[in-house]
Amino acid sequence: MIASLNQIFLPAMWLYLAVTLITFLALFFITAPYGRHARQGWGPTMPAFWAWMIMEMPAFLALPVYFWISGAPLTWPHLIFILAFSGHYAQRTFYYPWRRRQTSHRWPVTLPALAFTYNLLNGFTNGWYLFAIHAPYTSAWLTDPRFLIGAVLFLVGMVINLHSDKVLLDLRKPGELGYKVPQKGLHRWLASPNYFGEFIEWLGFAVMTWSPAALLFAAYTFANLAPRAHANLKWYRETFDDYPRTRKAFIPFVW
Ligand SMILES: NC(=O)c1ccc[n+]([C@@H]2O[C@H](COP(=O)([O-])OP(=O)(O)OC[C@H]3O[C@@H](n4cnc5c(N)ncnc54)[C@H](OP(=O)(O)O)[C@@H]3O)[C@@H](O)[C@H]2O)c1
Repeated sequence: MIASLNQIFLPAMWLYLAVTLITFLALFFITAPYGRHARQGWGPTMPAFWAWMIMEMPAFLALPVYFWISGAPLTWPHLIFILAFSGHYAQRTFYYPWRRRQTSHRWPVTLPALAFTYNLLNGFTNGWYLFAIHAPYTSAWLTDPRFLIGAVLFLVGMVINLHSDKVLLDLRKPGELGYKVPQKGLHRWLASPNYFGEFIEWLGFAVMTWSPAALLFAAYTFANLAPRAHANLKWYRETFDDYPRTRKAFIPFVW
């Protein structure tokens, strides 16, 4: 099993690079059809609640599973990587769908199917690199500047992401499905600060692990969310006459 997973690691990394480049190009022409960008013609739909739970599950399980399969020792850095990655996905798999259950549009089944497959690839490349390809991270890694800077970035990104998602979810009362102009936190500067926080979080994870798989994850997050943030800003400007003109899409004061 370990030998087979070692063999497929490099092809999986090349596949991941190709998926990232294709995603970035494709999403500038096609905005994923969910939420405010939902439209007819994408096949059968399902409740957003189940879509989120099912598609994020492989990501939640990935690091503990690959840690167990690899037989790597339980060091402090290994434990922190598992807590960071799986902690993020525990929130995203269980709490987040429950939190937005009463205020969500349905999703085309195609999207969670694609996201589920992506999470298998992302979970494998990240988990296998950390626990099987890289030599065991020892406690000495905890004082390395890369770990410390990355951990701070990760935490800052997580706070921005969680707070920005909360501001959006607080805009609707149970049963409401309409859209309003958010006025709190980083929403005062950006159309999609939750995406910006998500990107900073995974950039931080890439720095704190110094892993090429995590770097691909950060690049994919940018490829996936930057074009959507751009589409969201355009949508806000077209939908609300009073939408503040100073707000950017994805990066404060820049873009
Ligand atoms: N790592 C990745 O590649 C990746 C990919 C996708 C998402 N994510 C993360 O998953 C989370 C959710 O993503 P998302 O694309 O669903 O975010 P989103 O479009 O910002 O929507 C988040 C929630 O807020 C609601 N909402 C958004 N804008 C609103 C407004 N102006 N007024 C009232 N309600 C509003 C949405 O309702 P509707 O659903 O009805 O629009 C949805 O329930 C984010 O934290 C994001 O970073 C990560």
